[in-house]
Amino acid sequence: MFTALTTLLALSHFVSPLAVPEPSPPSAKEIFQFPNPTFVENIAVRPNGNLLLTIIANNTLFSLDPSNPSIASPVTSFPQSNSLFGIAEIEPDVFAVNVGNFSLTDFKADFGSFAVWKVDLRSYKCSEKGDVLSKATTSLITAIPEAPILNGLTSLRLGSPFVLSAGSDPGVVWRVNVHTGEYKVLLRDALLEPAAGSTLPLGVNGVHVHAPYLYFTNSFLQNGLLGRVPINLLTGDATGEFEVVVSDGGVDDFAIDGRGNVYMTKLDTFEVERVSPGGEVEVVVGGPDQTIVEGVTSCAFGRGRRDERTLYVTTNGGSLGTLPATYRTGGKVVAVDLKRV
Ligand SMILES: *[C@@H]1O[C@H](CO)[C@@H](O)[C@H](O)[C@H]1NC(C)=O
Ligand SMILES: *[C@@H]1O[C@H](CO)[C@@H](O)[C@H](O)[C@H]1NC(C)=O
Repeated sequence: MFTALTTLLALSHFVSPLAVPEPSPPSAKEIFQFPNPTFVENIAVRPNGNLLLTIIANNTLFSLDPSNPSIASPVTSFPQSNSLFGIAEIEPDVFAVNVGNFSLTDFKADFGSFAVWKVDLRSYKCSEKGDVLSKATTSLITAIPEAPILNGLTSLRLGSPFVLSAGSDPGVVWRVNVHTGEYKVLLRDALLEPAAGSTLPLGVNGVHVHAPYLYFTNSFLQNGLLGRVPINLLTGDATGEFEVVVSDGGVDDFAIDGRGNVYMTKLDTFEVERVSPGGEVEVVVGGPDQTIVEGVTSCAFGRGRRDERTLYVTTNGGSLGTLPATYRTGGKVVAVDLKRV
C-alpha cells in the first residue's frame, strides 16, 4: 500500500508538469483602469519609469508607477481648463503639455482655449498610497489663442528650447519656445490637413521626432496615414518634402523605438501596429473583435532596464467603439511585452 502510494505520488509528480503546462504570463496585460468613463489621451514616461497620463475631460495630470500600478497619483491640475492632450519631456523630468477645453459630448474643441504648460516634476514626490508629499511646479509657457486645438506634442530633442505642437485643425504644426513663450506656425502641408469633407476637423494628430525626421499621423486623411518630413533638428524647419510612410486606416498616436520601428495606435481596429523601417506593417496587439486595447489612443516605451521592451498603451475605454459614444470600460493602461509578441 505504502509502496503503491509512493509510486503513485512519484508518478504524479513526474507526470503533472507535462499534463499542466507552466502558465506563461500574457504578452499584453491590463495594469490599470480608471473609473468609467475616463478618456486617457496621452502618455509620457518619466526618467524614473513612472508613467504620466493625460485625460480628455479631466484637468488633472496623473502619474502611475508601472511596477506597482495600484493607484494613479495626481501630479497637478489645470483649473482654467478641462482637458489635457499631448505631453513631451523637454528637460530631464520636466514636461510640456497641451491643455485646453474640449467637449466629448459634441467632440469639439473650444476655440481659443488652448495653451502649452510646463510641469517640472524634479521636486514631485508621492507616497505609495498616492498622496502628494511634495508638489510639482507648474507654469504657463504660453496660451495660443489662434489655435483651434493643440493635440500631439514633441520636443525637438531633450534640452531644445523648442516643442512642436500638432494643430489638428486646420492642420499645421506650431513651434513654441518653452523659455520665451514665443510661438508661430512652423509647418504647413496638405498631408497635415484634415480630410476634405470630414465631419471631424482632425488632421495632424501625433508628432514625434526621430532624427532626421518629424514623424506624424493624420487621423483620417487618405483613410489615416503615418507620414514624415526631414527637419533641421535645431530649428524644426522642414529640409525636404513631406511624404507618406504608410496609409493604413484611422490612426491616433505612435511611439518609435531605437531601431526606427513605429508603433501606431489604430482608431478603428483597436490595434497597435508596428511599421518597420522598410514599411512592413504587422499587428502587435488587439484587433477589431478584441477588447484588450479597445479605444486605443497612444503608447510609450518603458525607460527602465526591466521594461525598456515594454510598450505602455493607453485607451479611452472604447468610447469611439462600434457603439458610438458608449464607454465600455474606464480608460486603461495596458503593458505589452514586445519580447513576447
Ligand atoms: C478625474 O479623474 C479622477 C481619477 O479617476 C477622478 O477622481 C476625478 O473625479 C476626475 N475629475 C473629473 C472632473 O472628472
Ligand atoms: C474653459 O471653459 C470654462 C467653462 O466654460 C471657462 O470658464 C474657461 O475660461 C475656459 N478656459 C479657457 C482657457 O478658455
